[in-house]
Amino acid sequence: MISPQKPNKENDENQPLEDLHEWEDDLLRRYPEPTEDPVRSKFTDADKKEEEFRDYEADTRDTVREFYRLNHRYQTVDFVRQKRDEYLSLKRERMSLWDGLEFLNTLVDDSDPDTDLSQIQHLLQTSEAIRADGHPRWFVLAGLVHDLGKVLCLWNEPQWAVVGDTFPVGCRFSDKIVFAKFFADNPDSSVAEYQTELGIYEKGCGLDQVLMSWGHDEYIYHVTKDYLPLEALYMLRYHSFYPAHREGEYDYLMNDQDREYFRWVNAFNPYDLYTKSSEPPNVAELRPYYDDLIAEFFPSEIDF
Ligand SMILES: [Fe+2]
Ligand SMILES: [Fe+2]
Repeated sequence: MISPQKPNKENDENQPLEDLHEWEDDLLRRYPEPTEDPVRSKFTDADKKEEEFRDYEADTRDTVREFYRLNHRYQTVDFVRQKRDEYLSLKRERMSLWDGLEFLNTLVDDSDPDTDLSQIQHLLQTSEAIRADGHPRWFVLAGLVHDLGKVLCLWNEPQWAVVGDTFPVGCRFSDKIVFAKFFADNPDSSVAEYQTELGIYEKGCGLDQVLMSWGHDEYIYHVTKDYLPLEALYMLRYHSFYPAHREGEYDYLMNDQDREYFRWVNAFNPYDLYTKSSEPPNVAELRPYYDDLIAEFFPSEIDF
């Protein structure tokens, strides 16, 4: 089963990014690590001006812009429902969590193998930074598995249906979503029912009732939901929901539990964004610790 695989590049129009890290590198440009330097921190200032948003968009590389154009064009209520039907019965594979990580590691894209870390190395950097800060074991494990949902790429899903900032569908698209102008081409933009503030939802219904744009977050939440504590599940399910956890949008869809548990999403985000270094973690050396950690929470095999 485990041999190097290329993501589906036969339809290159659907795969504008050189590799999935390109989206994450761009997130770092949008949300740089907080610093005293006024130039570097200008995009994260609380009082950032619209002009600076425009600067961000103007400076975005064409591949990333095209990626967002496709994502915003194609993530519709119908598309999300179709993908949920296709994947959430978890009938695709049954394997151990570590085998899932090794399967993800077979994702070979156009990144440079000499300088770019493997998928497992990226996940271990995140989890090791969490562990070094003395957080609970479930938090470390959340770091290890948070991007495991990117295996969707290996099942030929286009990049725009695996990564990207996530957002609710079935209600008005927030104008704080990155490149919100591209929603003009989304067919849901002309469905009146979907374009009120609440759309198909009720005020305060809770995010669990909300259809999020389809991607690696929602998928890995469903794979792990019987095994991890709720704090970790919030981290996994909403870690790319930047319009909420960074921009403060969609509060009207949240219930009290969401508001309480988003503090864990916020606690997780810096480890996701700011732990990328070129120093590769030693997978073989770390493996025994993580075998124990995985066995503490997961059975020997789980459904994907
Ligand atoms: Fe992610
Ligand atoms: Fe990540």
